[in-house]
Amino acid sequence: MIIAIDGPAASGKGTLARRLAAALGYAHLDTGKLYRAVGWAVARAGGDPGDPQTAEAAARSLDLGLLGDPALSSDEAGMAASKVAALPGVRAALLDFQRAFAAQPPDGARGAVLDGRDIGTVVCPGADLKVFVTASLEVRAQRRLLELRQNGQDVKEEVVKRDMRERDDRDRTRSVAPLVPADDAVVLDTSLLTPDQALAAVMGLLAKRGQ
Ligand code: DC
Repeated sequence: MIIAIDGPAASGKGTLARRLAAALGYAHLDTGKLYRAVGWAVARAGGDPGDPQTAEAAARSLDLGLLGDPALSSDEAGMAASKVAALPGVRAALLDFQRAFAAQPPDGARGAVLDGRDIGTVVCPGADLKVFVTASLEVRAQRRLLELRQNGQDVKEEVVKRDMRERDDRDRTRSVAPLVPADDAVVLDTSLLTPDQALAAVMGLLAKRGQ
């Protein structure tokens, strides 16, 4: 059983995916972390995340131990991630790992929930359920601001909004695996939903499909 959760930054897809996986006893992969780890590895070494050769080399030699690094949640890592994510060689290097996770989830789990931007369109086009999570830019910026401040980062609202718009544009307009809902995805707008309500909506979809 594979569940694909896609959507823009701070749409609520990560929280939804994590809680859905916990409720179902499935494994969860936050694929944004893979891109963040690659972007961060390049930036930390003083490289340019937009340089194809540097970024591809980092993606091919990605240390999965980096995925737990708290630095990955910073806005700088998110910005670097969005740059490396626009490079076809980087995406290709990360594809096998994501597909293998979905096909054979770790710890013998019976299913996997993957969240990202292109899970339903590219990574797992045959997923059993695809949800495309959205929320207004205003709501997403407020959520991101709260999250960053809770992590002790002193950030300005205008800067968060500007960065988010810039990342959205890059994710939506890149030529490889742009952020678009799969034709067979269910669109879920979480602007007015609590995390509990979003989870209940997807559990309802699964129940309706008899899964
Ligand atoms: O979801 P996130 O903010 O952690 O994602 C960070 C960046 O990685 C985002 O700007 C787009 C990119 N990304 C992607 O291109 N494909 C994915 N499956 C996941 C993330």
